[in-house]
Amino acid sequence: MSQPFVLVLYYSRHGATRTMAEAIARGIESVSGVEARLRTVPEISAECEAVSDTIPAEGDLYCTDEDLRQCSGLVLGSPTRFGTMAAPLKYYLETTSNLWMNGALIDKPAAAFTSTASLHGGQEATLLSMMVPLLHHGMILAGIPYSQTGLLETRTGGTPYGASHVAGKSGENPVDPTELELCVAQGKRVAELALRLN
Ligand SMILES: Cc1cc2nc3c(=O)[nH]c(=O)nc-3n(C[C@H](O)[C@H](O)[C@H](O)COP(=O)(O)O)c2cc1C
Repeated sequence: MSQPFVLVLYYSRHGATRTMAEAIARGIESVSGVEARLRTVPEISAECEAVSDTIPAEGDLYCTDEDLRQCSGLVLGSPTRFGTMAAPLKYYLETTSNLWMNGALIDKPAAAFTSTASLHGGQEATLLSMMVPLLHHGMILAGIPYSQTGLLETRTGGTPYGASHVAGKSGENPVDPTELELCVAQGKRVAELALRLN
């Protein structure tokens, strides 16, 4: 049987959320016996038709039902858009009814992360709203505990609801060291929970 893995499922238009996803994957892989699997979702179109290739030209593969069915944990990432997750990720989640009907995600640990342009641009609202479909799937939600002292020290992103990043008006801010540390900690925590729960 293949090694257990935690799925890092994200959407990123300009790369900030993707940078966070990679840091979270490093945190997951710091836990012995767990792998990270990075997956993304296609853009969506106004025509609501399949217009993109099934394999992206670059970057991570698109998520499949099997990625979700087989994962031991899930870390879900999206840019904040008007205080909630981006439509392509929401659209993808709405294709997971079959997994929901079969209870495929019940009792798996899950967490969320986000990137915003502005400091008070709705990170916590986004993270909480991303957790709602995960609860419907029966997943066990994990935040970031305050034993991660970066939560108290940060002047940018990083919340107890999940990792976050303030990218700036034009995405000019790199993911800062505290934000990065909290991404890694979040990945590590979900991987450790996945081992305990499986
Ligand atoms: C339609 C739209 C809505 C957005 N809404 C918000 C918002 O509510 N708050 C905020 O701070 N940034 C908002 N942004 C900015 C993105 O959250 C920000 O640029 C993010 O870092 C992009 O992540 P990415 O680089 O992974 O694509 C919005 C961007 C778009 C395109």
